[in-house]
Amino acid sequence: MVKVKVKDLTKIFKKGKNIVVANDKISLEVDDGATFGILGESGGGKTTLLRQIAGLEIPTDGYIYFDEKVVSAPNKIIVEPENRNISLVFQNWALYPNMTIYDNIAFPLKNIKMPKSEIDKRVTEISETLNIKQVLKHYPREVSGGQMQRAALARALVKNPKLLLLDEPFSNLDAQIRDSARALVRKIQKELSLTTIIVSHDPADIFSIAEDAGVIVRGKFVQIGNVSELYNNPISETVSKLLGDINTVEGEVKEKAIVIGNLAIPFDKKIDLTEVKVGIRPEDMRISQAEIIKNYVNIGKVKVKVSSYSAGIFKLIVSPISDESIEFSVNSETHIRSGIEAFLFIRPEKMKLFDSNGNRIM
Ligand SMILES: Nc1ncnc2c1ncn2[C@@H]1O[C@H](COP(=O)(O)OP(=O)(O)OP(=O)(O)O)[C@@H](O)[C@H]1O
Ligand SMILES: [Mg+2]
Repeated sequence: MVKVKVKDLTKIFKKGKNIVVANDKISLEVDDGATFGILGESGGGKTTLLRQIAGLEIPTDGYIYFDEKVVSAPNKIIVEPENRNISLVFQNWALYPNMTIYDNIAFPLKNIKMPKSEIDKRVTEISETLNIKQVLKHYPREVSGGQMQRAALARALVKNPKLLLLDEPFSNLDAQIRDSARALVRKIQKELSLTTIIVSHDPADIFSIAEDAGVIVRGKFVQIGNVSELYNNPISETVSKLLGDINTVEGEVKEKAIVIGNLAIPFDKKIDLTEVKVGIRPEDMRISQAEIIKNYVNIGKVKVKVSSYSAGIFKLIVSPISDESIEFSVNSETHIRSGIEAFLFIRPEKMKLFDSNGNRIM
């Protein structure tokens, strides 16, 4: 496979007076056979970065290397996209409806005028790996959603690419097949030791595919690291939110506590600020009528405002009894009716503190 290195990559789009710095001095390295995720909000510059790696976009500045070979340089494509041995999968995995599954998978090979016998061998091989051999003669409308997905993946992999580039590949799928599609891509990626880069705004995509990831904000990488490190140790409020649900609520720093309305989180560290933003994820909080829960700290009384259910957990919105305008989202293993008053608990070691600009201070 291939090792990918990106060095100080910058892409500036100019349209009349309008200048957009879509990628700003981005650097990253993905080892041979490794997976890397790029996470960021809409317009952050994810697709632009992927298109530059694919060779579809010319860098304004910076370099891209495949193994140690330069493939893109400032204002120059050195290796053309068709010679990069990559497969690029966009949101749309759609198959051609008027072609059989076989012809769909064979399409990229016919395009490069591969001999028929070799095409047959490759299509058979990949459809065995992906367990769709029995539907090769069917048309897309005659197969299940999962089989369609696997056929699309087969089409992406049939050229034996060295590098798989995925741009929000799961966002158009039904929720039921999204998880299995993620698992399938991950399994195939591992089996083939395929160097893979995935971009998405959805942390679930990144968590299921990538070991390491970079968070892109307005064209810049603001944090790079192992995905669980990013989740547990975000450098800013923005990064913490891109990685998953988190409550960020303003609190007053008092001598022995951070105070939020009638709630008080024990806190005895010395910091210069009188106001902080407390960040805590819903899974690191509990609600209970009991006053003590092991490993958690009781921070005071709240009222349950909304109680809903999704994917095996109850999701509650609660407010301190002193102030209904402050809200926390809390996960609960049991159903708790709205209107009920109970104690709110947190795991203190999971709490993150940000300053008023959203920078992590603790
Ligand atoms: N060809 C282009 N010409 C001018 N501006 C562009 C072009 N392509 C992208 N941009 C701008 O560059 C910025 C980054 O766009 P990009 O498509 O890389 O974002 P993204 O992170 O992929 O967003 P999304 O999550 O919505 O797909 C945006 O401000 C976009 O408008
Ligand atoms: Mg995009």
